[in-house]
Amino acid sequence: MLSVSNISLRYGKRVLFDDVNIKFVPGNCYGIIGANGAGKSTFLKILSGEIDATTGQVSTNPGARMSVLKQNHYAYDAYNVLEAVMMGNVKLMDVIREKDEVYGKPDFSEADGLRAAELESLFAEMGGWDAESNAASLLSDLGVKEEHHGKKNDGD
Ligand SMILES: Nc1ncnc2c1ncn2[C@@H]1O[C@H](COP(=O)(O)OP(=O)(O)O)[C@@H](O)[C@H]1O
Ligand SMILES: [Mg+2]
Repeated sequence: MLSVSNISLRYGKRVLFDDVNIKFVPGNCYGIIGANGAGKSTFLKILSGEIDATTGQVSTNPGARMSVLKQNHYAYDAYNVLEAVMMGNVKLMDVIREKDEVYGKPDFSEADGLRAAELESLFAEMGGWDAESNAASLLSDLGVKEEHHGKKNDGD
């Protein structure tokens, strides 16, 4: 569950939100609609923790992790649908990237070996082994059929 309590946001004198309270509950898929400039993007930035609200709190269940993708969807053109979903887990993707770098070193040192071991354990702790199947389940739950998971924005 994602819980929004008493969120207000002001830019100077301008009040964008005043005392917003919402609970996003499991099993539902939510969309936010509103006129241009109404504050949709700003609200999502508050939800994801990118910016702080003037008042109020956003809370999730203990241990819950939030995945967030950039609003600029062109940012994922180089990746297929499944990869793009996984990129929402930025910390895991950083670990995967560093793991690839370390293993790709032509002069793999003892220190590199230790770092690789650390990265492997971080990867496992973060559910790295299940990340792909979790992303596939998430997409399927949203109604995106498996036949589309390997596709890219350019139609590949
Ligand atoms: N950092 C900021 N400082 C002042 N005003 C801002 C800032 N960020 C957004 N706004 C204003 O807040 C309003 C909501 O913006 P935004 O959330 O991008 O709207 P939407 O995504 O619904 O089109 C707009 O009027 C925008 O100009
Ligand atoms: Mg917007």
